[in-house]
Amino acid sequence: MFYTLLDRFGLLRPTADPLHHVRRNTLEVRDLACLKLAMGWWHDPRLDGIEHLHRFDYLEDLNERRVRDAEVICSACCNGEPKTIVEIGTAAGETTALMAKHALHAIVHTLNIPPEEIADGGKAVTYAPTCDEIGRAYREAGCTNVRQILANTATWSPDREPFDGPIDVAFIDGCHDADFVYNDTRKILGRCQPGSLILWHDFAPQLAHQFDWIASVCAGVERLYREGLICGRILHLQDSWVGLYRVPDNVWQKKAA
Ligand SMILES: C[S@@+](CC[C@H](N)C(=O)[O-])C[C@H]1O[C@@H](n2cnc3c(N)ncnc32)[C@H](O)[C@@H]1O
Repeated sequence: MFYTLLDRFGLLRPTADPLHHVRRNTLEVRDLACLKLAMGWWHDPRLDGIEHLHRFDYLEDLNERRVRDAEVICSACCNGEPKTIVEIGTAAGETTALMAKHALHAIVHTLNIPPEEIADGGKAVTYAPTCDEIGRAYREAGCTNVRQILANTATWSPDREPFDGPIDVAFIDGCHDADFVYNDTRKILGRCQPGSLILWHDFAPQLAHQFDWIASVCAGVERLYREGLICGRILHLQDSWVGLYRVPDNVWQKKAA
């Protein structure tokens, strides 16, 4: 009788996990030393004395989440000699400045929706900066290897950008709606090559139940797996909110635009 009741209310049936592929493919990495080993990276990022990395918004930021994020993002920029780096979602430009300083031979093309178009830019938008605010930090830091793009990714095409070769590193951190994460990544993949790195911010499958914008970023990545646009591992540095994916040889032709 007890089991019949449980079954009737669906409690005995295994529930389909909406993040099945993401959870199956995400490998938790203990620390930066292990990440460097996995990626064949030699150089360490220089993050001492950067105040904003120690900001604390949520309890989940407790274990220096922002420092962990920067370790992944900046290591991707200071190893492998990237020439073309793309950031989707400039905001104040703090991460832009970090990337530019860690890849002095690259151009960091950073894109943000213009304020007057914000209503067309999706729902899960965490920050709507004014024109003056967009990129303030990299301008104040005097970075000369940054190129600002003002566009809505819903209508933007990387094919019109004057990139110097394929995209080597992409940091995707614009609108967090699943459809935007999916479409932004799909567009970026179209300009990548095997070995290119894609990093998603707010990617932390273990926190998807806690923050709806993390759930929607993970859902966008899940769809990329389901449609075969990405395959293989995403590395996730413990306590960070960044997913790191290296474009493998076997799927990059499928990158449809
Ligand atoms: C979370 S913030 C980016 C933070 C930044 N990458 C950093 O690490 O400091 C997201 C940014 O994406 C921008 N954004 C939102 N929707 C967008 C869209 N559809 N196209 C382009 N930018 C968008 C927002 O205006 C906001 O500045």
